[in-house]
Amino acid sequence: MGVDLRETWTLGGVEIPSRLVLAPMAGVSVQAFRRQGRRYGAGLVCSEMVSVAGIQHRNERTLGYLRVAADEHPLAIQIFGSDPAAMAEAARMVEAAGADIVDINFGCPVKKVTKTGAGASLLDDPDQAARIVGAVAGATALPVSVKMRRGTADGSRDFLVVGPRLVEAGAASLTLHPRSAKQMYTGQADHTLTAELVAAVDVPVIASGDITSRARAQAVLATTGATAVMVGRAAQGDPWALREIMGEPCDPSREEIVAELLLFIRETVRELGEFRATGFLKKFYGWYLGRGRFPKPFKQELVTLKTIDEVELRLLAAAPGAAEVLERLEADLGPVDEIVLDSLPISLYGGG
Ligand SMILES: Cc1cc2nc3c(=O)[nH]c(=O)nc-3n(C[C@H](O)[C@H](O)[C@H](O)COP(=O)(O)O)c2cc1C
Repeated sequence: MGVDLRETWTLGGVEIPSRLVLAPMAGVSVQAFRRQGRRYGAGLVCSEMVSVAGIQHRNERTLGYLRVAADEHPLAIQIFGSDPAAMAEAARMVEAAGADIVDINFGCPVKKVTKTGAGASLLDDPDQAARIVGAVAGATALPVSVKMRRGTADGSRDFLVVGPRLVEAGAASLTLHPRSAKQMYTGQADHTLTAELVAAVDVPVIASGDITSRARAQAVLATTGATAVMVGRAAQGDPWALREIMGEPCDPSREEIVAELLLFIRETVRELGEFRATGFLKKFYGWYLGRGRFPKPFKQELVTLKTIDEVELRLLAAAPGAAEVLERLEADLGPVDEIVLDSLPISLYGGG
């Protein structure tokens, strides 16, 4: 039995069609990843963390993160920063960009972020964290959600102090990754803490951390009372893991794997432009072709190729039947229909 992952739920009035959420991941959660996540069963997808300072300065690359395709909805855009007024302004941009939810990052453990008073460091300052959530909730009609860790120090239980404060300030949902910031990604996510947060607040809680299979997803939902589970690393180069978690296990063929990778490559080139995409995509080759799916030397060879055209040709040579699968995928997907913000530089939409 267990909890039905296909059940619909609502986050601040936004209907989410499944209890599976695709995690925000910097350097990973491009549009191609999010659209793929939706196709494979995620009910909600999220952008990577977007710098509020970058939005304020109209940084071209940062503004590129605010591009939303029509078939991504429901979609959250995640922002990070330390100044309530700047966060409020960024939330208005997120709304104008067409997102359904504004997500706030109080979980990032990386020094570059925490030393600016943003990310997980806000768990040490509940007053400032609540001010930020209040300012964002007051600036946008969209529901506001927050993603956080258990606290900054190992063994911290600060999430139990901060969480209810954030809900009081206007958060419509909380995602907990129950590791400390200090832990980074070591050890295990302790979902007994997720159960404690569920008991402490009256908004939906999303459980993040080490959800890698249907069995684990079901167990975490059943034992914590969380409304949904979030999947991050397990979905990197493996959308089939999402399908398995949703109850449809499948063993993709070589052709299917290569076709999904080729689609991912093409979509990413459209979004980032060929120059940026070439470097960005390298880690995905290992993720897609790993797990014993293709021999190691093949993955290593792909990474050394200079152009995307060469990568495509090499992949098609390894799995010729993938061309037909790709054609079907592209036909089903249809063209991207993006919202274009007036304030975004036009060049972003030219070469992608
Ligand atoms: C490469 C990478 C980038 C991440 N970037 C973000 C981010 O931008 N925002 C965020 O809230 N969490 C970020 N996370 C944390 C994930 O969203 C998630 O909480 C964490 O990876 C635990 O889930 P998992 O075990 O399913 O991967 C990132 C994680 C990874 C591995």
